[in-house]
Amino acid sequence: MICSEVTNLSFFFPPKCHLIHYLRLSHHLIVLNYLICTFDKLKSVSSEPINITDVVFDGVEVRVFEPPAKQDEPLKRSVVYIHGGGWALASARTSLYNNLCRIMAESLNAVVVSIEYRLVPEVCFPEQFHDALRATKHFLQPDVLAEYSVDPNRIAISGDSAGGNLAAAVCQQLSKDELLIVRPKLQALIYPVLQAFDFNTPSYQQNMNMPVLPRYVMINYWIDYFNGNYDLAHSLLINNHTALDVHQALTFRGRLNWTSLLPSSFKKNYKPVVQTTGNAEIIQEIPALLDVRAVPLLAENETLQLQPKTYILTCENDVLRDDGVMYAKRLENAGVEVTLDHFDDCFHGCMIFTIWPTDFSAGVQTRNSYIKWLDENL
Ligand SMILES: *[C@@H]1O[C@H](CO)[C@@H](O)[C@H](O)[C@H]1NC(C)=O
Ligand SMILES: *[C@@H]1O[C@H](CO)[C@@H](O)[C@H](O)[C@H]1NC(C)=O
Ligand SMILES: *[C@@H]1O[C@H](CO)[C@@H](O)[C@H](O)[C@H]1NC(C)=O
Ligand SMILES: *[C@@H]1O[C@H](CO)[C@@H](O)[C@H](O)[C@H]1NC(C)=O
Repeated sequence: MICSEVTNLSFFFPPKCHLIHYLRLSHHLIVLNYLICTFDKLKSVSSEPINITDVVFDGVEVRVFEPPAKQDEPLKRSVVYIHGGGWALASARTSLYNNLCRIMAESLNAVVVSIEYRLVPEVCFPEQFHDALRATKHFLQPDVLAEYSVDPNRIAISGDSAGGNLAAAVCQQLSKDELLIVRPKLQALIYPVLQAFDFNTPSYQQNMNMPVLPRYVMINYWIDYFNGNYDLAHSLLINNHTALDVHQALTFRGRLNWTSLLPSSFKKNYKPVVQTTGNAEIIQEIPALLDVRAVPLLAENETLQLQPKTYILTCENDVLRDDGVMYAKRLENAGVEVTLDHFDDCFHGCMIFTIWPTDFSAGVQTRNSYIKWLDENL
């Protein structure tokens, strides 16, 4: 594939994870990467001289977007951005994300740090999380913030899809770190993926065949992230991994009970899928399925209470809608100020596909709403 700006094509040559995974997902990955590469060739229309530099933060590559410094200007706001792509695709350097971050830097007059974490199959969980955390912690050091003229009291952590997963997990980890001097003021999560406990939430049932992100593809992204075996997909799909006889799952069951966390307009007539007997060995094989660093929706109340003011964008036509809605509700129950920005006519990924002709308006609409919230709250 010819795609000069996508630097990480290593998923065709998986060094660590199982090659077989790429045979199953390859079609989907190739199609998506083709789209990403195609959009890459369309350049942004912006003319503002944002200074874009690629640097390394504690061993992790990042792309920094700096608006021009003006004399006598106070310190700037900042957004740490973590791109999406199923922990396996895309890059801070693709035009899709490069443009988004540049537009954010311009419209917010903020320093944007876009993290180039390593992807599946080069690495699997928890390395993506570690990369995102390491780069963020490095940036949050007072001397580094000073170097970029960033106001330590006005920093947001943000990301979309799998990047929203990493952003939420990083925020939780930072909130538990007592040694941290500078803490994020906000988190902003765009159609985040937050749990692998229940693949039969109303939104998973309603959108299981939705193009861009059908349910089986999301399950396969999870399996790849955990370096698991594709044979597990069917058990996961019917919630056998969290059946009532899987005792490790019991503690977590009440934390994402969608019958109590979702409004009836989302529940519609969907019924919970809860197996009485399942496959307890799945959790033994992949304990990360219940590891909050991978599935932040499963965090305990005490952690949720510590989270910063939160924005969550969800789309109706998205298997992940209820992940975001449930997290918003749990955070709100824990006393966190939450804005849930739900779009009835949008689909997963719409925000970065702002140049997709048919969905231009959905993309621009969600992006504007997200940037507006940041502008008003950061
Ligand atoms: C761009 O940023 C880098 C790193 O902060 C800095 O060394 C360089 O002088 C900047 N260039 C411009 C044109 O501002
Ligand atoms: C889930 O919530 C419903 C409604 O509030 C409640 O009846 C049910 O017992 C809950 N289930 C669990 C496992 O907490
Ligand atoms: C789910 O678990 C039940 C009980 O162990 C088992 O009979 C069934 O085959 C499992 N289904 C799948 C798809 O693994
Ligand atoms: C966590 O918070 C929810 C909502 O406030 C509450 O219903 C639940 O009992 C709490 N769980 C624990 C273990 O405190």
